[in-house]
Amino acid sequence: MAINNWYKDKVFYQIWPRSFKDGNGDGMGDLYGVYEKLDYIKSLGCDGIWFSPLYPSPGIDCGYDISDYMNIAEEFGGMDAFKKVLDGAHERGMKVIMDLVVNHTSDQHEWFQKSRRRIEPYTDYYIWRPAKPNGKLPNNWDSLFEGKAWTWDEMRGEYYMHLFAIQQADLNMDNPLVREEVKKILRFWLDMGVDGFREDVITFISKPEGLPDDKLMPASKGIFMFNHGPHLHEYLEEFHRDVFSKYDCMTLAESPLVTPKKALEYIDENNNPVLDMFIQFETQEADSFMTDYYHMPFNLRKLKRSYTKWQEKLDGKGWNMLYIENHDHPRMVSRYGSERFQKESGKMLAVSYLFQKGTPFIYQGQEIGMTNWYPSDPEMYEDVQTRWQYFNVATKKSPEKRLKRLWDGSRDSARTPVQWSAEENAGFTTGTPWFYINENYKDINVADQEKDENSVLNFYRRAIKLRKELSSVKNGNYKEHGKMSSSFYTYSREDDREKLLIVCSFTEKTKKWSVPSGFDLASAELLLSNYDKLDGTTLKPYETRVYRWVK
Ligand code: GLC
Ligand code: CA
Repeated sequence: MAINNWYKDKVFYQIWPRSFKDGNGDGMGDLYGVYEKLDYIKSLGCDGIWFSPLYPSPGIDCGYDISDYMNIAEEFGGMDAFKKVLDGAHERGMKVIMDLVVNHTSDQHEWFQKSRRRIEPYTDYYIWRPAKPNGKLPNNWDSLFEGKAWTWDEMRGEYYMHLFAIQQADLNMDNPLVREEVKKILRFWLDMGVDGFREDVITFISKPEGLPDDKLMPASKGIFMFNHGPHLHEYLEEFHRDVFSKYDCMTLAESPLVTPKKALEYIDENNNPVLDMFIQFETQEADSFMTDYYHMPFNLRKLKRSYTKWQEKLDGKGWNMLYIENHDHPRMVSRYGSERFQKESGKMLAVSYLFQKGTPFIYQGQEIGMTNWYPSDPEMYEDVQTRWQYFNVATKKSPEKRLKRLWDGSRDSARTPVQWSAEENAGFTTGTPWFYINENYKDINVADQEKDENSVLNFYRRAIKLRKELSSVKNGNYKEHGKMSSSFYTYSREDDREKLLIVCSFTEKTKKWSVPSGFDLASAELLLSNYDKLDGTTLKPYETRVYRWVK
């Protein structure tokens, strides 16, 4: 458990290592590059880093298929480079959290290789089942990435379960030996000085007894069966009791479909919490149905409902993790904002969540308003899930329509290398980049934005600085105003010292904003806005403002 809940004062920066910064010229982002950029991250006002997986991995799912949990991949610089980054971060007062991916391992992991050969004690480390007499799969669940959740292993003569890619075999968490392995991994990193974990799809680790068929879900069968399974709380409690409670660390659980009510079963501070925070998915669903591939027009009221729901329902009980971007979703400027108003909407989106109550996370490139990537050929996509979507889903649709689905929905849209400068390869590498660079790097890059006081980058710095200075942002009351508006998101924060009013316009139109009653703008101090000149209460495209009244 984090002593004094230190994570409540932090702003985290998420690094997706392959695309952050290449430090040795081989085209792949690495820890040398991270080391070079520690001061940059710190300069944003960020004082925590979440690393997406850095471990050795065949890279089928860009590192989320781990083949060795207690090591750092050579391509990222190995353990020495990691220790240097860890020390460098700590010297700068920054915390470091790792990705813990224990729902599954790579099929190249030694445990799997031994398990398929029935070598003890690994025989039951995974979820193996014989074929049914009628030749059917053990159950009807789908993999979230490709096809069915079962693949036949010739060597063992049984099926194994994989909720993600074929090469990501699900661990059998019901086996106490597997849970001991997890604890070993946790202690290894915590003893080294790591400050906590982001726990990958952790709510999937307990499968229901007998692995029954899913009889309800038409699409994506299984998810309601294996999410928040019967022993989940028990296992998380065990990890907490045996490991986390003995360290000054934080835990952040990723959970698709989690609701505030569910989350509170694990994070209620007044009721033996076993985790600190959740990554919820609801705020990502304002322009889609369940997954980004089922794209729909952006619906601000849907977004506001989920923002406010999480703010209100956790209030006084649990702590929110706040984010708008990560490596699993396309870029927000292109989704909830506007590429035409890249600068304005990039800034507005920052304000839409940075003044809420919780611990904010910023995903690499978000701070300069990076946008989606529009490759002309589906073969240019790298992501396993994206490729499956193109080649196997909705195949009757025209190639143009299918490509458009990827533009709107692919995770690769947010995985192009960070645009550091207008130089070759966006300054990401001196070699050949492992992946495509977004063509707009000459217009959107860190170096240019450093020089421009009005850039998205410098706006993020100001907003983060403000959030750290303002007492009401950390602990004040949250209230949403004008809920019915489909153009503006208006919220206030208030404590005994001050009151803030925050407005975010989500429209390309210039429009009149009705100031909520009880807020007299004439006596307010304007702390932040994304336009030079304000026009009364008429808001320009994607305008945002933060007002304050000191009590
Ligand atoms: C999580 C990760 C995602 C990964 C998946 C399987 O959702 O964020 O990137 O592909 O789990 O590990
Ligand atoms: Ca490299």
